[in-house]
Amino acid sequence: MASKIIGLGMYAPPKELTNSDLEKMVDTNDAWITERTGIRTRHIAEPGSPNSDLCVEAARKALDDAGVDPAEIDIVVVGTLTPDMPFPSTACFLQAKIGATRAYGMDLSAACSGFVYSLSVADALIRAGRGKKALVVGSEILSTVVDYTDRSTCILFGDGAGAVVLSECPEGEGVLSCHLHSDGDLWKLIYCPGGGTLHPYSPEMLEQRLGFIRMAGNETFKHAVLRMVEASREALDRNGVTIDDVKLFIPHQANLRIIQVVGKRLGIPDERVFVDLEKYGNTSAASIPIALAEAKAQGRFAAGDLVLVVAFGGGLTWASALMRM
Ligand code: UT7
Repeated sequence: MASKIIGLGMYAPPKELTNSDLEKMVDTNDAWITERTGIRTRHIAEPGSPNSDLCVEAARKALDDAGVDPAEIDIVVVGTLTPDMPFPSTACFLQAKIGATRAYGMDLSAACSGFVYSLSVADALIRAGRGKKALVVGSEILSTVVDYTDRSTCILFGDGAGAVVLSECPEGEGVLSCHLHSDGDLWKLIYCPGGGTLHPYSPEMLEQRLGFIRMAGNETFKHAVLRMVEASREALDRNGVTIDDVKLFIPHQANLRIIQVVGKRLGIPDERVFVDLEKYGNTSAASIPIALAEAKAQGRFAAGDLVLVVAFGGGLTWASALMRM
């Protein structure tokens, strides 16, 4: 057996942080942010709200879309780098909040590739007979780890959640293949140093601002382009199809210029490349499931169409998945 997506949902907190809001916080301007990133606004969760609350909103919509009761879910996987707590997992909080009483749950840490990694794990578990239905969520409250005094990063990131319901299906439908990669030698390109065992919370850690994302933007940009092109081609080659067979290409929403270069190198016309980062910014693990839910709502793919997703993020990690919807 294989697995296929039978429901999609997304949630973005109502509060927005626009480019003009950021102009008042750091030395930046709307023209620079729009030209260099394509981002116009992002959504920000209320301080103190747990990530699992965002997961619940997206998950309920995906379950409704699928017509599936939470008690039918066997597996809950949450891709995130901003969990409610170090433990228990955000997946366990989500399980309790929605009443997925018979499921087992876990979080998965693969930064911006977190959703595609989670999808791959849930798909593999279903294929291995460890459950028939899975709830797979990518959800982040990145505003808790963004340094709003650093103009090179604070303009990029937003909060949000996206969820899919995966269900057992015959081989040849649904998730056709997933391709996961990482290169830990390049961890310093994008990371958050504090809050773990290396730099536990302490007055010094807070003073040195170690609890915030650090990124070498230019270097990360180059790797993002190379790796997302590579992983996309890998998925196409594995399935004996070409980019012309793909109805919709959904790359990680990090920077419009990255998306455009990747699309061009793959030879896919702009109208078949999905972009929504002007509204949400980079939501890390939530970026792809939010885009999937938005694309479905906009009628950008139909049953039977091929959709290719590809992600890239800290680790470094990168991953692709080709799906027949
Ligand atoms: O999701 C994980 C993966 N993440 C990514 O893929 C992000 C990849 N990187 C990027 O998206 C881009 O590198 C950034 C958007 C972060 C930066 O854009 P860039 O075109 O690479 O700019 P840059 O870092 O080369 O900086 C160009 C100039 C610099 O000024 P000087 O040295 O030329 O005078 C920066 O100081 O722009 C300046 N700058 C800004 N100016 C206004 C940097 N940030 C800002 C800002 N507003 N927010």
